[in-house]
Amino acid sequence: MNQVVEKALRGMVLVKVHNIRHWTDKTFSFSCERPAGLRFRSGEFVMIGLIVDGKPLLRAYSIASPSWDDELEFYSIKVDEGPLTSRLQHMKEGDEIVMRPKSVGTLVHDALIPGKRLFLFATGTGIAPFASTIRDPETYDKFDQVILTHTCRQVEELAFGHDLLARIRADELLSEMVGDKLTHIATTTREDSPAMGRITDWIHDGRLAEAVGGPLDPATDRVMICGSMDMLRDHKAICEDLGFVEGANSEPGHFVIEKAFVD
Ligand code: A2P
Repeated sequence: MNQVVEKALRGMVLVKVHNIRHWTDKTFSFSCERPAGLRFRSGEFVMIGLIVDGKPLLRAYSIASPSWDDELEFYSIKVDEGPLTSRLQHMKEGDEIVMRPKSVGTLVHDALIPGKRLFLFATGTGIAPFASTIRDPETYDKFDQVILTHTCRQVEELAFGHDLLARIRADELLSEMVGDKLTHIATTTREDSPAMGRITDWIHDGRLAEAVGGPLDPATDRVMICGSMDMLRDHKAICEDLGFVEGANSEPGHFVIEKAFVD
């Protein structure tokens, strides 16, 4: 490695990727070694990327694997003109990525006050942080019911979530931990499927309440939201209209939000 790159990499580590899986022409997932000493809370993100023209090009990526796992998993969009993902999508097994081994984020239990039901609202790759949350024992210690909703345009984009749920159910320890507490609602908006429509519409017209046994209520429910800026804006408005108060690490509340997009 030349000196310029070595200097630019200060405070960062190089880790090898494996388990690269292309889910659709717009999404892929991969795993990498967990840097020694990296501790994180489920739902947090780290900065990862590649060296481009001698400089690190980093973006925030939610860690999709649970905090007890030996490896880190990420689920990414592919943006053809995106500075990072246009390159990252061509990685091969054994290639190295750059990581700043320090995690942060608001989609964490510490930012929510105690409640009975936990709603995890995701669109697209916004499911990534929740792939961590739903495999965390703390989630089931703290909540009686956990509802993960995933809305995408096409049916094939729901595959990552379906596979995740199948992996949980096939794992003896995880399925015992989750029991019957976890509900997965997967909907599409631009292709026919058994469940259709935006979850914001499901909230407005009562379909969500019917599916989970009662409407959203700040007295019992806590909410984490991850998706596009438009999606966050609309979900946040719904929460606030119902009397939910936004939380933060410094001041826990009823709901928390985070943008899912990387380019
Ligand atoms: P729709 O097809 O009706 O736009 P995107 O790829 O644009 O981020 O969208 C991913 C999914 O999120 C799509 O199913 C999309 O529905 C849905 N979506 C987009 N904007 C919102 C919003 N403001 N509120 C709820 N869901 C949304």
